[in-house]
Amino acid sequence: MREIAAQPTGPERKIPQRGGSQRGGSQRGGSQRGGSQRGGSQRGGSQYRGAELDVRLAGTARGLAVAALVAVDAGERANEILPRLLAASSLDERDRSFATELVYGAVRMQRACDWLIARFARGELEPIVRAAARTGCYQLAFMRVPPYAAVSEAVDLCPRRARPLLNAVLRRVGELVAAGPVQWPDAGTRLSYPDWVLRRLSADLGRERALAALAKMDEAAVVSKRDDGYVQDPGSQAVGEQVARWADERVGTAPGGATGCGRGRSVFDMCAAPGGKATLLAAHAPFVVAGDLSAARSRVVAANAARLGLSNLGPVVADGAAPPFRPGSFGAVLVDAPCSGLGVLRRRPDARWRVRPEDVARLAGLQRRLLAAAVPLVAPGGLIAYSVCTLTKEETSGVGQWLAARLVPGWEILPPPGPPWEPLGPGALLLPQSAGTDGMYLIGLRRRPSGA
Ligand SMILES: C[S@@+](CC[C@H](N)C(=O)[O-])C[C@H]1O[C@@H](n2cnc3c(N)ncnc32)[C@H](O)[C@@H]1O
Repeated sequence: MREIAAQPTGPERKIPQRGGSQRGGSQRGGSQRGGSQRGGSQRGGSQYRGAELDVRLAGTARGLAVAALVAVDAGERANEILPRLLAASSLDERDRSFATELVYGAVRMQRACDWLIARFARGELEPIVRAAARTGCYQLAFMRVPPYAAVSEAVDLCPRRARPLLNAVLRRVGELVAAGPVQWPDAGTRLSYPDWVLRRLSADLGRERALAALAKMDEAAVVSKRDDGYVQDPGSQAVGEQVARWADERVGTAPGGATGCGRGRSVFDMCAAPGGKATLLAAHAPFVVAGDLSAARSRVVAANAARLGLSNLGPVVADGAAPPFRPGSFGAVLVDAPCSGLGVLRRRPDARWRVRPEDVARLAGLQRRLLAAAVPLVAPGGLIAYSVCTLTKEETSGVGQWLAARLVPGWEILPPPGPPWEPLGPGALLLPQSAGTDGMYLIGLRRRPSGA
């Protein structure tokens, strides 16, 4: 979805800051934020904070990319700072695409780039030099931009005192890359992920499948539109469609269907924002209650529903763990839960550096709490669906098994979708490499009708 609006620019404009914060985004990622295993977004000091970067740096695609990377290094999220910088620039469409590829790519491949840079640069680089080095390195190693184009502008963007060093480093990187396949020290560096992600997914999926999933998520995300114009990953769309099918088949939630509307016929999407699945379900159900804990994100759901002309979708700000509804209120409840997001890393380039190993267990606890609150809301004959966009066993089949053990008997596990989905526990897993989508997990259970 393109949310970038061109705005006039001017010499004294600064990079717009989210909420006026000097620090920008969260610092959740701890020592591995900043992308390298030696980590530390604050390495080299904080003299180049986003607010202090003059937007003149953003006068070219490469300059804008450097400004974005400095801000990301200082804690901003790539998918938030980049649209703001683009909105403040007057770059044409081609330069915007180039800047986007450069920023997202350099953030994704940060560990690999940092390893290449560290082979020829000793010690810490100051933030703007590090950012310029990463953009230059990414172009040389991963975009195959010739050195004459990749190096000189990166060097020019840096303070004079750092130019000889950066020039030498990038020239050497260019020579190394041109000499043949790079001999990476290990798969984590080559694929540019924190070691714990590689270890965890190797343990959960098997090493080969994990490596293939991680390699796939190093590619740029493909933009895909539904028939109604909503931009949604095909994996996420497949989840919404499967839930709609389950709901249609057995509960008769289709608009105008024989069963009609009323209590027990509506759908509750407990974690609905930004509304991808809720807006899809609204085409199949008489009414969709689209809950979300975040008021700001609920407004996005409302805007998306309005844009699609959906009058049967009601956004509600509510904690799914304490939902404000009576038992048996819904024909279907979807818990598309907050998760570690390790299946959508191509779409969120800096997420791999932010998510921490301990997040997985914490989120699995939240997922179970949300499901425990969702179960009583399902009317007899109704459906509960659980989905996440991650690949860890703990959040996928682990939570699925916990749910199934808690519900069966009294409920039946629904046959999960077939290939490219693979059965896993009581549900099914869609790996990123299987169909080029985001990675997803889905399970559906039907509550037996009363008396059955
Ligand atoms: C994976 S996203 C949902 C994506 C959405 N279903 C879609 O298809 O567009 C998870 C959502 O859960 C919300 N969330 C987090 N904690 C929650 C809670 N306790 N109750 C309800 N929503 C919550 C987040 O704000 C976030 O919007």
